Amino acid sequence: MTEYKLSINAKDLKEDSPVESEINGKKYAVFLHQEKIHVLGGICTHEGGPLYDGSIDGNELICPWHSAAFNIHTGNASENTPWAAEDIVSYKARIDAPSGDVFIEM
Ligand code: FES
Repeated sequence: MTEYKLSINAKDLKEDSPVESEINGKKYAVFLHQEKIHVLGGICTHEGGPLYDGSIDGNELICPWHSAAFNIHTGNASENTPWAAEDIVSYKARIDAPSGDVFIEM
C-alpha cells in the first residue's frame, strides 16, 4: 500500500458535505461523517454522475443525478437502487496533524 496526498485540506471539509478532490486526474468524494474522514470514488457506477456533488443520507452517499446510494463505509451499492449495479471504492484515509493534509491508501 502507498499513501497519496489529496488536493484538499481537512480545514475545508464540512460534516456530511462531500467535496471534490483528485489525484492524477482521478476524482474522489471527500467528506466528514461523525467527525471522521471518508474518501470514496468520485464517479457513479450508473452513468458517471459526480458523487462529490452528492449528499449524505444516514450511512449512504447519494448520487445527484439519479439517486443511486452507496454505503459510505464499504462503497457497496445499495440493493434499493439497483440501477447502480457496481460498487465504488471506499479508501482508507487519514488527516495529518497539524497540517490538515488528507492521505489515502491505494
Ligand atoms: S449517474 Fe449516478 S445514479 Fe445515475
